[in-house]
Amino acid sequence: MLVEKYKDRIEKTLGKYPDKRSAVMPVLYMAQQEYGHLTPQAMQEVADICEMSVTQVKSIAGFYTMYFEKPKGKFHLQVCTDLPCALRGADHFYAALKAYLGIDEGEVTGDGLFSVEHVMCLAACDQAPAMQINFSYCTGLDIEKAKAIIEAIRTTGEYKP
Ligand code: FES
Repeated sequence: MLVEKYKDRIEKTLGKYPDKRSAVMPVLYMAQQEYGHLTPQAMQEVADICEMSVTQVKSIAGFYTMYFEKPKGKFHLQVCTDLPCALRGADHFYAALKAYLGIDEGEVTGDGLFSVEHVMCLAACDQAPAMQINFSYCTGLDIEKAKAIIEAIRTTGEYKP
């Protein structure tokens, strides 16, 4: 339980806000760090801590791309398919990336290393197509560059932007 494991951290976070509901985002992030993704149990705990309904917590978690409601790989790839990136081939790039990894949106590779999803603008339009790997930018992409990055991750076990 979050309230037991992170008692001090939760109290400190709640103390920053005049209303417990205002702390929902940092508490959600805490829950995600603990459970890997936002499970129904995690959502319930966050709702209890922030004195909100589970529906309210889910609506916030569902709105932001930094919260995950499904299991993800150790390296989560978020590919921008918004207009400027789409004009630079992001849809084809995303299809080729999924084919190379052998997974579809929301799935995790068999070795647990990679998961993918498409997202809206990452504010890197001038370097399209763009994606994030665990929230670090990776821009000016084509599928060959992405394959090299993926193989480097497989070899080293880490992503070096
Ligand atoms: S549209 Fe892709 S980063 Fe802005």
